[in-house]
Amino acid sequence: MTGKPHIVGISGSLRKGSLNTMLLLNAKGFLPEHYTFTLADISQLPHYNQDLEAELPVSVLQLVELCKSADGFLISSPEYNWSIPGVLKNALDWLSRQAVGTPLASKPAAIMGGTPGGFGTSRGQLHLREQMFALNLDAVGRPEVLVPQLHTKFDEAGQFSDEMGRKLLQQLVDNFVQKVERNVQA
Ligand SMILES: Cc1cc2nc3c(=O)[nH]c(=O)nc-3n(C[C@H](O)[C@H](O)[C@H](O)COP(=O)(O)O)c2cc1C
Repeated sequence: MTGKPHIVGISGSLRKGSLNTMLLLNAKGFLPEHYTFTLADISQLPHYNQDLEAELPVSVLQLVELCKSADGFLISSPEYNWSIPGVLKNALDWLSRQAVGTPLASKPAAIMGGTPGGFGTSRGQLHLREQMFALNLDAVGRPEVLVPQLHTKFDEAGQFSDEMGRKLLQQLVDNFVQKVERNVQA
């Protein structure tokens, strides 16, 4: 650690216009100024296959190195069929392995998500929380940031404009930063 905590963002959507990636980038904006942030690219990962652990693919090695350098993770994800998207599950499976040094374990993480519909990823986030427990991530419990009708809540510049939503997102990031600071000082 260089005195500038490094946060890695992971979006569960690969879509260019992803609402959830936009939400993640808004959360980044609530981090303290001296924090650094990198958005992970999980789009090139192969499907997890234990045979590939003998010679790890470059895309896996790059993601692992990035995650090793992280002091914490912000994860924003859509809900697909009441759960998390396969691309996110695949990334978490790769990152869970001893073969890559379990680069998520014990690190702070905060989650968020939104949908154009009315449920705001509540079912998907429940599954994501189970995954975080399995991965031994140090999850921020509250507040829950589950945003319904998310497509109506950005301005033209991509700023998350929902007043209550912004307060919750700020609180989530503040609680996350407290965990990061505790780890950094330990
Ligand atoms: C395969 C698939 C499954 C979906 N399942 C759900 C769902 O279970 N619940 C929900 O609220 N929205 C569901 N949606 C709609 C997504 O919430 C919507 O497409 C959202 O914009 C995706 O997030 P993104 O904008 O970050 O890509 C689904 C979309 C796809 C493509």
